[in-house]
Amino acid sequence: MRVLGLQGSPRKNGNNDYLLQRFMEAAEGHGALTRTLWVDRMDIRPCKEFTTCEKKGFCPIDDAMKQEVYALLREADVIVAATPIFFYNMTAQLKALVDRCQTLWSRKYMLKLKDPGCRIRQGYLLATAASKGKNLFEGLHLTTHYFYDALDARYAGSLTYREIEGKGEMAAHPTVAADVAAAVAALLKPLERRRRVLFACRENACRSQMAAGFAQYLAGDKLEVLYGGSSPAEAVNPLMVEAMAEKGIDMYFRRTRSIDDALAEGPPGVIVTMGCEENCPFAPGAERVEWQLPDPAGAPLETMRRVRDEIERRVGELAARLT
Ligand SMILES: Cc1cc2nc3c(=O)[nH]c(=O)nc-3n(C[C@H](O)[C@H](O)[C@H](O)COP(=O)(O)O)c2cc1C
Repeated sequence: MRVLGLQGSPRKNGNNDYLLQRFMEAAEGHGALTRTLWVDRMDIRPCKEFTTCEKKGFCPIDDAMKQEVYALLREADVIVAATPIFFYNMTAQLKALVDRCQTLWSRKYMLKLKDPGCRIRQGYLLATAASKGKNLFEGLHLTTHYFYDALDARYAGSLTYREIEGKGEMAAHPTVAADVAAAVAALLKPLERRRRVLFACRENACRSQMAAGFAQYLAGDKLEVLYGGSSPAEAVNPLMVEAMAEKGIDMYFRRTRSIDDALAEGPPGVIVTMGCEENCPFAPGAERVEWQLPDPAGAPLETMRRVRDEIERRVGELAARLT
């Protein structure tokens, strides 16, 4: 279970720093792997309206978004944005990241592709503001709603605090600890109940990626899907991305992982192996399933399609049996 924090405040030890840190600690208490991005310290450039994303599905700007952030957004089960109100909305730093998610909006609405995590991903908002007007958070809620929609995430809720200005004021708030604990429990408890399944192959570039993509898409609400390779390739196979796109599933931002990385998410109850040979993972008590499938690496698209269809069939049967 992966929780990604987006810190929109530029202020270290400020109110949103406090809020997001408490949120992430609580998430770790529920077994989540957490990562926080300090957006202000990253090279994230504003959208230049090249509209390449709307035509071709990618952004030509080469910065932290391309290098890492799109992939992290796709990998997260829960995304939590934290921001002070600056002129009735989020900070400009965070808004630049949001605007660059036009790429994900385009892949969803123009290219009509579905992210494998779309059934379970949730978005959450933390925010503080100095004043106390009734409409203080309305602009922020609206922007956040459409941001999470572009990320294929359900906007699950928010904790917003008025009359919080100087450093340390959030920490002194009487209900914040209980508010955060309740919010994190409501978000993560349903995800904790899922059965963990690991798909492993050699390079994690084709077979285990496709199996994981189908499993997340078909049953991500009931299965926590891990994936990895015994000898991971640098990147996923572009023909795999193409073959999955033919099925309407978007694997463009997927990254390969080692089996050890996959196991860091927790011990799987079921391990499905596809040609990782003597390096196949072992977990005590886990059910082992071996799928004999040809390795489509280096083969033409037609082979990738055949392997994809066979994996889709097997994942459907496995998901029906396990859920
Ligand atoms: C540029 C700027 C704009 C702000 N605009 C507003 C605003 O429109 N309404 C408001 O209530 N507070 C506003 N504030 C105050 C911050 O939202 C508030 O101090 C917040 O708690 C700071 O959070 P942080 O410590 O996490 O950065 C603004 C502050 C700055 C620096």
